[in-house]
Amino acid sequence: MLSRSDALALVQQHVPNRNLVKHMIAVEAVMRRLARRFGEDEEVWSLAGLLHDLDYMETAEAFDRHGFRTAEILAGKDVPAEALHAIMAHPGHLPRESRMDQALYAVDPLTGLIVAGALMHPQKKLAALDVEYLLRRFKEKRFAAGADRGQIQSCAELGLPLEEFLRLGLEGMNEVSGELGF
Ligand SMILES: [Fe+2]
Repeated sequence: MLSRSDALALVQQHVPNRNLVKHMIAVEAVMRRLARRFGEDEEVWSLAGLLHDLDYMETAEAFDRHGFRTAEILAGKDVPAEALHAIMAHPGHLPRESRMDQALYAVDPLTGLIVAGALMHPQKKLAALDVEYLLRRFKEKRFAAGADRGQIQSCAELGLPLEEFLRLGLEGMNEVSGELGF
């Protein structure tokens, strides 16, 4: 399987935008945390998270290509088919079938909410956030409006109540706070 360092090198090569790279590292970390929660394969889930927006810059003008271009870039690389499926399913090109498909779809906007929450917090640190704080931000429709609340709430498809999903997201991102820079 494609190693983490080779995957990160690919991301850095295709995504010349530090914040977007951090977004992918955040999604990677939360996918890893969720895989552990469900007893699933942490390496495969985290790889799907790290690579999920690999083509974001290249498809910015043609969003209907988002996901397809990633599949082209990854052709011939040793990425598990189920990870590729989750990547293709996250913008809706394939139905969400597996738990990993559902997780990636719900985690994507969750990380945006958490980042915005950290930036808004007086301490500007992930470690300062708790579930109650995030829940309040979640309910403010105008806060981080780009973080689609319905998509975050699709954690219910995984059988996760919103509170637990927020907690797992925080825990996952706290594990990589150094790499994320807060
Ligand atoms: Fe994303």
